[in-house]
Amino acid sequence: MKSVGIVGVGSYLPEKILTNRDLEKMVDTSDEWITTRTGIKQRRLAAKNEATSDLAIKAARSALKDAGIKPEALDLIVAATVTPDTQFPSVSTIVQRALEAKKAACFDISAACAGFVYGLVTAQQFIATGLYKNALIIGAETLSLITDWKDRNTCVLFGDGAGACVVAPVKEPGIISTYLGADGTMGDLLMLPAGGSRIPATHETIDKRMHYIRMRGNELFKLAVKIMADAANTALHKAGLACKDVDCFIPHQANVRILLAVAKRLGLDTNKIYMNIEKYGNMSSASTAVALCDAVKSGKVKKGDIVVLDAFGAGIVWGACVIKWR
Ligand code: ACO
Repeated sequence: MKSVGIVGVGSYLPEKILTNRDLEKMVDTSDEWITTRTGIKQRRLAAKNEATSDLAIKAARSALKDAGIKPEALDLIVAATVTPDTQFPSVSTIVQRALEAKKAACFDISAACAGFVYGLVTAQQFIATGLYKNALIIGAETLSLITDWKDRNTCVLFGDGAGACVVAPVKEPGIISTYLGADGTMGDLLMLPAGGSRIPATHETIDKRMHYIRMRGNELFKLAVKIMADAANTALHKAGLACKDVDCFIPHQANVRILLAVAKRLGLDTNKIYMNIEKYGNMSSASTAVALCDAVKSGKVKKGDIVVLDAFGAGIVWGACVIKWR
């Protein structure tokens, strides 16, 4: 099996900013509540004419430029999203068309907030086996379109954005270990009830606001802490490393309190956690992707560093990767 590394990263965040102060005018909430309970100060919202693929294409171009790989050389595009432009065609094929990446195979992954990590681990297999020479992985979401802006329990949490990376064979170890998991018995903790084959869209489902995110936040909170800590520990153990070896921990950005509790459980120094949730909120599959890109571009991740990606989301699903940064 070949060693696989991340050879380029990129991201795109829509221009429009929605602050906690703006939300105070929309629902019964306060900047103080949102900041202390979540760590979020603002989030980005896609423009009216921006669909998920529009964000994905911009993040993809940026990652390809960073990797120095031309679109026509791409072998595979994997897009992780729970907010595709359409049920079909997939976001990955829309990206392929825009990039003119004619020889790339394409598919989307539905693994909610863990989608980018699931995509990265999936793409890694194609490169490790030698089937493909490179792959583009994108996490992109327009959660603002499935957020109930009348529900203060959820609308303060989410934002829109996209992150991407390119993977290719590397001489030295890159992705050292990976771990993916799921527990479908807890699927109803976080869901979008209608619009699928179980409850197709009707006037009634729209009236009942069933096309928006429904979440049992408190229960998810506790699960997220335990599962994210366990996932990071498992991936580190598989890599033959311990928490003290980690230079930068890049988790799914769900809630600052979740991340601090995960760090405590792991015995990880909190200044090793990369956090940008304050600026962007929870962008589901895009969160880990954008955080990775920001951490690299801001110099928080340096050559030789041990980086851990760790994500958890609806399904419920989770995934972690240990990477020695090239
Ligand atoms: N503004 C003001 N008050 C609010 C708001 C708000 N926006 N939202 C809820 N409240 C109220 C509640 O109604 C409740 O009032 P009550 O005590 O009178 O009933 C009170 O605040 C406390 O509510 P809790 O749900 O107990 O608050 P908690 O401290 O658990 O924080 C939160 C809620 C932020 C949603 C938290 O549970 C959380 O982050 N959970 C994780 C959810 C998540 O991130 N899901 C996304 C995907 S999964 C993942 O990414 C991990």
